[in-house]
Amino acid sequence: MSSLYIILGTSVLAVLLAGYFAQMYLPPPKPKVVGIDLGTTFSCVGMYHAVTGNVSVLTTQGGHKCIPSVVAILDRGILVGYDAVAQAEHNPSNTLYDAKRFIGKNFSTKELEEAQKQYSFKLKLDQFGMVSFSIVVNGTERLIAPQEVGSIIIQELKQAAERNLSAPVNRAVLSVPAEFDENQRNFTMKAGAIAGLDILRVINEPTAAAMAYGLHTKSNIHNVLVVDLGGGTLDVSLLNVQGGMFLTQAMAGNNRLGGQDFNQRLLEYVLEKIAGTFKKSLIDKEDLQVLRMNVEEVKLNLTYHKSALISLQLHSFGNTLFKETITRDLFEKINSDLFLRVLEPIDRVLQTTELTPEDVDEIVLVGGSTRIPRVISLVEKHMSRRPNTNVDPELAVVTGVSVQAGILGGMWPLTVSAVELPTRVRKIHIH
Ligand SMILES: *[C@@H]1O[C@H](CO)[C@@H](O)[C@H](O)[C@H]1NC(C)=O
Ligand SMILES: *[C@@H]1O[C@H](CO)[C@@H](O)[C@H](O)[C@H]1NC(C)=O
Ligand SMILES: *[C@@H]1O[C@H](CO)[C@@H](O)[C@H](O)[C@H]1NC(C)=O
Ligand SMILES: *[C@@H]1O[C@H](CO)[C@@H](O)[C@H](O)[C@H]1NC(C)=O
Ligand SMILES: *[C@@H]1O[C@H](CO)[C@@H](O)[C@H](O)[C@H]1NC(C)=O
Ligand SMILES: *[C@@H]1O[C@H](CO)[C@@H](O)[C@H](O)[C@H]1NC(C)=O
Repeated sequence: MSSLYIILGTSVLAVLLAGYFAQMYLPPPKPKVVGIDLGTTFSCVGMYHAVTGNVSVLTTQGGHKCIPSVVAILDRGILVGYDAVAQAEHNPSNTLYDAKRFIGKNFSTKELEEAQKQYSFKLKLDQFGMVSFSIVVNGTERLIAPQEVGSIIIQELKQAAERNLSAPVNRAVLSVPAEFDENQRNFTMKAGAIAGLDILRVINEPTAAAMAYGLHTKSNIHNVLVVDLGGGTLDVSLLNVQGGMFLTQAMAGNNRLGGQDFNQRLLEYVLEKIAGTFKKSLIDKEDLQVLRMNVEEVKLNLTYHKSALISLQLHSFGNTLFKETITRDLFEKINSDLFLRVLEPIDRVLQTTELTPEDVDEIVLVGGSTRIPRVISLVEKHMSRRPNTNVDPELAVVTGVSVQAGILGGMWPLTVSAVELPTRVRKIHIH
């Protein structure tokens, strides 16, 4: 009897030891599930690595970490990302972007007419009130649904992951805006399915950003404020975290405030300077295009330097060189009212949740425009707390969605869980 126990005991021990040594000496398992941030303007893919616990965001298309969410359909085939952007100017009616604004959403005829004014490609309503993009390929009209555009972008990211792993990838987690309803979530999942992926879960972008900071694992963190300031929109969410469970308590935003507006102010300032110097206005399209790119570069530089130089040859003014130094102080002054508006939705989510700034345990920043020093300092002063800035704000969502992918893929040492509870709160729009 006792010898049987001893035999059983040793074999159990052997199995345990084998497991232990396997974990010590075998190469870590390859990621099986990828995380995808299908963004309005940029999309990226990442994966969680067992053992180190690192997330890598994959590079694709000439070393970029994220690709523009742009698809061009030509007679000779389909282009995605930077390749699609490169030919956009010559092919405006077949270059599709902003598909995320239309996915799984009903539009009235009037809403569609309003939306159509912003786009150079043709929008069409089907009998259910859903939008398609109408393009001409090989001389005939073709309707492309927003989820098909999404699937082409996802496919490109899937292939990047497969090249990196030298293995097929067929499971993923996707992130969606917190305000997406069930239909929008379903159609986003459909985009993944068309690309050949089994979508294990969709998670809210603010939750993903919080997970990028590991906030699902910290027991002393309860209230998290997520501020997402992108190219054209501002979204603020207040999340409650409790034992790995996330609940969105409030959302507020301004979908007409973002990096483009700061560029526009700077552009107007420089145009006034040019008009003052040359006694005439700059109206040449090509010069304006070059100036816009200059302004964008200067704005980015002012995040790291106290001043930056606008310098360009004005071809419509007989190739005259125009130079103007822009200081960070000036940039902050001409945008001061816009920067202050970032605080409005923050106040609204605090009001609706009846929380004070002191009740907020962490502040997470998302989106390239949250790198602007003035935006960070305003939020810090308003909340009496330094926002988290360890994760690149443009990669926070893809990083978090990859952590969720790692959890669902059972990747050691992730033994935690992270679950989102359904919420009924509606987003408050501020204009
Ligand atoms: C991966 O994680 C290890 C240990 O946590 C760290 O030392 C290393 O720098 C990380 N590598 C990358 C590429 O982030
Ligand atoms: C256009 O026609 C050519 C030749 O028939 C075909 O190879 C190509 O795939 C078509 N383009 C698209 C986007 O369907
Ligand atoms: C919205 O779209 C769905 C299709 O997903 C359709 O069944 C429904 O009737 C539409 N609702 C309205 C109000 O147009
Ligand atoms: C996979 O991606 C990681 C992180 O970007 C990179 O370090 C590695 O070299 C890539 N491997 C291959 C085979 O492309
Ligand atoms: C979304 O998909 C789920 C599962 O496929 C389904 O049960 C649900 O009815 C769908 N919702 C809508 C609004 O289509
Ligand atoms: C931006 O900064 C880089 C180096 O940090 C510099 O090479 C470039 O000339 C700067 N551009 C402008 C417009 O100031």
